[in-house]
Parts: sequence; C-alpha cells; structure tokens
Amino acid sequence: MNGTIGIIGGTGPAGRGVAMRLAKAGYAVSIGSRDAARASEVVGAMAVPTEGSIRGVANEDAASADVVIVATPWDSAVATVKALRDQLADKVVISMVNALIREGRELVPLYPSRGSMAAQLASALPSSRIVGAFHHLPAAQMEDLESGLDADVVIVGDDAPARELVASLVNEMPGLRGVIAGTMSLASAVEAFTAVCVSINIRHKAHSYVKLEGLAT
Ligand SMILES: NC(=O)c1ccc[n+]([C@@H]2O[C@H](COP(=O)([O-])OP(=O)(O)OC[C@H]3O[C@@H](n4cnc5c(N)ncnc54)[C@H](OP(=O)(O)O)[C@@H]3O)[C@@H](O)[C@H]2O)c1
Repeated sequence: MNGTIGIIGGTGPAGRGVAMRLAKAGYAVSIGSRDAARASEVVGAMAVPTEGSIRGVANEDAASADVVIVATPWDSAVATVKALRDQLADKVVISMVNALIREGRELVPLYPSRGSMAAQLASALPSSRIVGAFHHLPAAQMEDLESGLDADVVIVGDDAPARELVASLVNEMPGLRGVIAGTMSLASAVEAFTAVCVSINIRHKAHSYVKLEGLAT
C-alpha cells in the first residue's frame, strides 16, 4: 500500500504496538494524542525501526494521514472521531476498538446500540470507509518486534475494496496475517471474542493470541 498512516489515540499500548509493526514494514506513521507534546514524548521512548518512521502529533494531524486507525478507549471513540469527521471523509478508517468491562477476573463484552464499536464508528462517520481489524492482538507482543508473534488479524467491514486494502496492509506487517472474515455484521462477534482472549490470558497467566489453522494462505 502507498501512503501514510495515522493512529488516533495512538499513545496507548495498542496504538504503539500497531505503529511499531507498521514502521517495521516501512510506513511513515503518525501517533496521535489529545496533546501533541505527550505524543512526541511517547515516541521518544520507543525503539522506532529504521525501515519506517513514527512521529508524535495531535489527533487532528494523525487524522490527515491516508489511512487512519482508531485506538482510543471505547467510551471516547465516537466523540473523538465525530470531531474529526471532515478530515476522515472518504478515507479508510480502521477501528480496533473493543467495548469491554472488567468483572472479577474476567473481561466481558458490552454491546453498543449498533452491535459493535466498528458499526458505531460507521454511523458516526457516514462518509468514511470503516473496517474493523487488530482487535485480538496483544499490545506488548506487538510493540516488541522480537516477541516471535505469529498472529492472525480478523478483518470485517461492508466496503470490500477497503477490506482488501487493510488485508494487504496487515500482510506487510511482520508477524501478522490478514484474514478477511466478511461484513460489518460480524464485527460484534469479533469484538466480543476479544473478551474471551483476554480472559483466557488472565486465567492462564499467558500471552496467547489468535491463529487460525486450516487456511490455504
Ligand atoms: N491493549 C491491547 O492489547 C489492545 C489490543 C487490541 C485492541 N485494543 C483496543 O484498542 C483501544 C486502545 O487500547 P489501549 O490499551 O491502548 O487504551 P488506552 O491506553 O486506555 O488508550 C489509548 C489512548 O487513548 C487516549 N485517550 C484516553 N482517554 C481518552 C478520552 N477520554 N478521549 C480521547 N482520547 C483518550 C489516550 O491518549 P492521549 O492521552 O495521548 O490522548 C490513550 O493513550 C481500545 O479500544 C482497546 O479495546 C487494545
């Protein structure tokens, strides 16, 4: 894929992990924050791969990239992207947002009114091309390029060319394989399954991740 990538809310573990693997694939990545100075500070502490670049910017600047990833907590995602609606128009916008809450030793899924956070973002950004991806990835292993991660990224959305573009992008990222599951109707199950993944890791004190067996590629 040609172009730049911006990550809104990219200063958290999830955004940093995705940024590292995109930079390793050679991309110029902008990590966005509500506070550009904080984003610069966060990037300054990262071991950025020389194949690409990562810079810390305001969320507004991250939203001006060619492809934009949303990596804020679920309860601020809609308000955050609504404020950036004009910059995000006509773009592929990837939601990695999971709506989860902790109950004892488990994380359990919440179900937003439209079924998934990806669908909530699609509703908030009617002129953007929303794709769901990266939901199940363990952030710490993503950020550590030496972790040996070999994970699948389940991709959903109603815009078929946008899904294909995201799958190509994922396949360029070391340690990841993009697997298109289907339409936005599946986003609810994909996001909810993250609660299962995290709860397994808590219960088994593990760092497991999703890898599908039996696919031809
Ligand atoms: N952690 C994982 O392993 C993982 C894996 C896959 C998907 N996800 C999903 O990815 C998203 C981010 O996860 P995370 O663990 O990185 O979360 P996080 O650290 O809690 O939040 C990410 C960033 O969002 C910004 N943020 C926080 N509160 C906000 C608010 N009220 N309004 C706007 N921005 C706000 C913060 O950046 P600034 O303060 O710099 O603005 C923060 O660094 C979540 O939806 C999560 O479900 C996480």
